[in-house]
Amino acid sequence: MMKYNVVSPSCSKLFRCVLFLPLFFIFFVASARHLEQVPEPSPRPAPVPQPSPKPKPSPSPGPTPAPEPKPCPCPSPGPAPTPSLPRPRNTTFPAIFAFGDSIVDTGNNDYISTLVKANFPPYGMNFPHGLPTGRFCNGKIPADFIAEFLGVKPTLPPYLKPGLTQEDLITGVSFASGGSGFDPLTPIVVSAIPMSNQLTYFQEYIEKVKGFVGKEKAEHIISKSLAIVIAGSDDLANTYYGTHAEELLYDIDAYTSYMASSASSFAMQLYESGARKIGFIGVSPIGCIPIQRTARGGLKRKCFDEINVAAQLFNTKLSRSLHSVAETLKNATLVYIDIYSLFAHMIQNPKEYGFDEIDRGCCGTGMVELGPLCNQFTSLLCSNVSSYMFWDSYHPTERAYRILTKKFVETDMSPFYDK
Ligand SMILES: *[C@@H]1O[C@H](CO)[C@@H](O)[C@H](O)[C@H]1NC(C)=O
Ligand SMILES: *[C@@H]1O[C@H](CO)[C@@H](O)[C@H](O)[C@H]1NC(C)=O
Ligand SMILES: *[C@@H]1O[C@H](CO)[C@@H](O)[C@H](O)[C@H]1NC(C)=O
Repeated sequence: MMKYNVVSPSCSKLFRCVLFLPLFFIFFVASARHLEQVPEPSPRPAPVPQPSPKPKPSPSPGPTPAPEPKPCPCPSPGPAPTPSLPRPRNTTFPAIFAFGDSIVDTGNNDYISTLVKANFPPYGMNFPHGLPTGRFCNGKIPADFIAEFLGVKPTLPPYLKPGLTQEDLITGVSFASGGSGFDPLTPIVVSAIPMSNQLTYFQEYIEKVKGFVGKEKAEHIISKSLAIVIAGSDDLANTYYGTHAEELLYDIDAYTSYMASSASSFAMQLYESGARKIGFIGVSPIGCIPIQRTARGGLKRKCFDEINVAAQLFNTKLSRSLHSVAETLKNATLVYIDIYSLFAHMIQNPKEYGFDEIDRGCCGTGMVELGPLCNQFTSLLCSNVSSYMFWDSYHPTERAYRILTKKFVETDMSPFYDK
């Protein structure tokens, strides 16, 4: 069974709310100050109609379906902490596209008006040029590592960055936006780019590529390239359990079903836009990220088990709904990619991966700092960022991201190679 510590049932919703709101308040006040310094015009396009109507919160006829028992998150022996580069394969991907949240946002939020930014030191301190780029990390993030490990290019630029060359565009970009999610409410609360608008940008991008290489070649590039989607963490951590915005309307079973149906309609829209190799990455054990330990883990800062159960519930539903969508899509590969197991294994066996610290981030106290609260003026840094699993109170370090990404690139990419 799961090793995670169950949150005491006496910890009422009100109590959690009282604990969590001040964190958000501090975050937003600090963010607002930062925003004044970066008055960037928002290039957001008009929203496109949302495909999936919200399911009505089930006025449960009968007992609420309990989350199915989940397999133990600990997999068989973890991979070696320093695996070798994946072997080059016969077929290459002309480009990589990323959609979703801060895990794959390589800097799009720098170019919109949002509170969710990371374009100031010490973010990016280990990035090749030592510059903050808007990545929510000390260095590279999974979008970059996927592009690197698949031999496409060392980093994946953000689509909204001005001055991208034809070559930059043709080999792929990220459309992701920190703070976004499958629930359309999630990006609205923090002014991130909704998934529907990320898709609009993708379609705009395809038109640009058609302009460069012609319609036929462009369609070929899009169909051979890998589209990676990762979102859902912010829906659960911020919208459902953070602001409690949806908690009054849905039970967690209905909410995770809603997230999964929104995700599969996104998959269909990517397909309709021409993508044929599509991978969705599931949610990690977000109850164990430092800010969740601080807000919900009690004095001992244990993992917040309830959200881990929700993450697994969502992953199961995502996997199932993608599987059924995949059966209806011709000539396409649509797969679910798990990172929950490896992430949980790293948290439970940090030494195996060379991590000394897994329950606090490297930036500041590591317990609350995120976004503007992690800054060069008030935040001292840990002495060895490589020995930390988390960079800030929400996001893994570059080294943790590298290990996670290497694993799934090695084990989950084979369906995408041409036969
Ligand atoms: C490898 O790719 C080349 C073209 O790039 C092709 O001619 C060859 O048949 C492929 N080999 C295999 C084993 O698929
Ligand atoms: C699937 O691929 C085949 C061979 O490339 C092609 O002839 C066919 O039109 C494709 N079908 C769809 C629905 O794209
Ligand atoms: C920093 O941590 C990494 C990973 O645990 C370790 O390999 C390295 O030796 C450490 N560096 C120092 C200076 O302690």
